[in-house]
Amino acid sequence: MAKVVLENLYKSFPSRRGEPAIAPAAAETLGMPTQEVPIPKKVDKPTSQFPRVSVLRSINLTVEDGEFMVLVGPSGCGKSTLLRLIAGLEELTGGNIWVGDRLVNSLPPKERDIAMVFQNYALYPHLSVYDNIAFGLRRMIKGEGDNAQGNTRNWAENLLVGITRSLPKRLRYLSEKEKAIDERVRNVAQLLQIESLLNRLPKQLSGGQKQRVALGRAIARNPQVFLMDEPLSNLDAKLRAETRSQIVKLQRQLGTTAIYVTHDQTEAMTMGDRIAVMNQGKIQQIAPPLEIYNRPANRFVAEFIGSPPMNFLPVQVRAPLLITHSQFRLTLPEMWENLLTPYDGRSLLLGIRPEHLSISPPAPKNLSVKVELVEALGNDTYLSVHLAKDINSSLQVRIPPDCLVQVGESIWLSMALDKIHLFDPQTGNAIG
Ligand SMILES: Nc1ncnc2c1ncn2[C@@H]1O[C@H](COP(=O)(O)OP(=O)(O)O)[C@@H](O)[C@H]1O
Ligand SMILES: [Mg+2]
Repeated sequence: MAKVVLENLYKSFPSRRGEPAIAPAAAETLGMPTQEVPIPKKVDKPTSQFPRVSVLRSINLTVEDGEFMVLVGPSGCGKSTLLRLIAGLEELTGGNIWVGDRLVNSLPPKERDIAMVFQNYALYPHLSVYDNIAFGLRRMIKGEGDNAQGNTRNWAENLLVGITRSLPKRLRYLSEKEKAIDERVRNVAQLLQIESLLNRLPKQLSGGQKQRVALGRAIARNPQVFLMDEPLSNLDAKLRAETRSQIVKLQRQLGTTAIYVTHDQTEAMTMGDRIAVMNQGKIQQIAPPLEIYNRPANRFVAEFIGSPPMNFLPVQVRAPLLITHSQFRLTLPEMWENLLTPYDGRSLLLGIRPEHLSISPPAPKNLSVKVELVEALGNDTYLSVHLAKDINSSLQVRIPPDCLVQVGESIWLSMALDKIHLFDPQTGNAIG
């Protein structure tokens, strides 16, 4: 097992002819020049001469030995590219990748001792489950016949192994190498409870079963590191939740360092020892799940983690502790005093999660709102509301299921004062 260290990684791809190096909006947030680089008139090898699209920038991440690290972020933010860099499927533009004490920057994938599981399973359709799991092992485990003199014997043995595989166990021919492989395949199958599927072809499996076979193939190789790229995306909700906890249990059992990519914040929150939130090619925050939830480093993280997402309201600061909005004013707890002093007279963005708003009597510190939508889920009820005096505003509220509210009703909401977040509207960074 091994620690994985990513040091100042950069990745850019050659852009296609005529495309700007990077979308102007994205370029601005990344702090890059937005003008297009002129395209040379005559080009033999288009890709080498065109401006490049920057996909990952200044990625620094240490995944501890045995840790389960989740990379989460919206589609297109560079998660798969980062995983492929670690696996050796893409070439680095800059930076270093360490697996244990080995610098693996220029090692080919098979020498990195890493196993990857993809969303689309990537099983060999013509091979049985058994052979899909054994496939990588046959190359990895060295047997007696794996040298020049042994070639003929090896060939004959393989033939015998193949011919007798479907026979009852006592009639099967197994070389020493095959015996080792057989033991490994059966152990893994037992671990994943897919023993009864070993003779089936992938097309005879359900999505969940296929994904377990793909996991089995990765586990069988006993790698230093597991990389998983949205492995549950093709499963239905119930199976996804089941497989999610199975993967976590397995990883704990095996103690193998894991880096797991997802765009699903529930997966991130429930699976990760720590979460790295990514946006537009950069890591926004690395922390344990509840710290990410309770202390988001910036507005992006605050909005991305949590469902329904955090609500935001523009407010003015009046030191020491007063926060004003055209429709309410409130005094924050004293712990804010030092933090707010530099912002006296300035605008900030107040963030409050749906579960930290509650129905309350009218008061100057509370929000007068009108209910637009009521979603009763049984265990919880969600309200969509707008501020009474601002029909374009929109807030989400979570209330207890026994609380009866009608669409069109006017109500007052109070904020849990110790659950308020404040963000700098220019940088998006959290204050405090
Ligand atoms: N081979 C490639 N050539 C050019 N652009 C690429 C290539 N692979 C990925 N990209 C771009 O890199 C960005 C990140 O992609 P990806 O890593 O797949 O994101 P994610 O996995 O987070 O959805 C996307 O804008 C994508 O179009
Ligand atoms: Mg992806």
